[in-house]
Amino acid sequence: MSIPDPQKIIERIDDLPTLPRTVLKITELVNDPKSSAKDLARVITDDQVLTARLLKLVNSSFYGFPQRIPTVTGAIVLLGFDAIRNLLLTTSVFDLFANRNRKMKQDQERFWDHSLGCAVGAKVIGNYLRHDKIEELFVSGLLHDIGKIVEMMFLPHEFSRVVAAIKKENILMTTAENKVLGYNHAELGKLLAERWNLPVRLVQVIAHHHQPNNAGSFAMEAAIVHLADIFCRALNMGYGGDNKIPPLDTQAWELLKIDSSAIDTIMGTMHREYHDISNFIS
Ligand SMILES: [Fe+2]
Ligand SMILES: [Fe+2]
Repeated sequence: MSIPDPQKIIERIDDLPTLPRTVLKITELVNDPKSSAKDLARVITDDQVLTARLLKLVNSSFYGFPQRIPTVTGAIVLLGFDAIRNLLLTTSVFDLFANRNRKMKQDQERFWDHSLGCAVGAKVIGNYLRHDKIEELFVSGLLHDIGKIVEMMFLPHEFSRVVAAIKKENILMTTAENKVLGYNHAELGKLLAERWNLPVRLVQVIAHHHQPNNAGSFAMEAAIVHLADIFCRALNMGYGGDNKIPPLDTQAWELLKIDSSAIDTIMGTMHREYHDISNFIS
């Protein structure tokens, strides 16, 4: 049997989700150095749902600002452009994949719990390492396995063959995908991220979260998400598609330079923040 090319598969899927127009517009504004907080606020406040959501999120315990932030402009000034884009991207991506198929709803929710766990993990590890793009790490974690969702929703036949192989051989999902399909969710995720015109940094992390060293100048970010993925599986947050913990990439571990004595604290913080945010989102 010949192995299909993932790019061809993506092209075959007409109803692959697109991002809402407002989010695309916001991404454009954020990438344009000439745009101001006012321009961005105008686009956001045009959309009542987005406005309500943004204000709810910035006033949540997740951000932990001491005072209430009543306006969109205030939120932009406090959080910055990138954070706002990431925040809106996050909530829109949640929407895209919500309730499309009742039969798969439960599986999808468990996948999302895994993604959310990894997002929180990436944020906590990023904080520990004093990384300067915490928001982006959060979104990278959230989207790292988006290829699995694409597979589940748009390639159900291929997906069920992968699931059967995982059950039969008790292997990692990536191993099963490579074996059965000849490509894996990281490649599918990369194609989707490119189609959405996400920043290169995000594309690279999604593409290389299992081999962070291949992410070039974003190897550090990919390594953070790689470790977060392992931690959230160890902490039993959601379901990543198989019952195994992916092996820790030694080069990634060396790059991160995390003191082993800090692992307990990092995982403890992850656990606490995960519960806070999942209560908030649900
Ligand atoms: Fe993965
Ligand atoms: Fe994962």
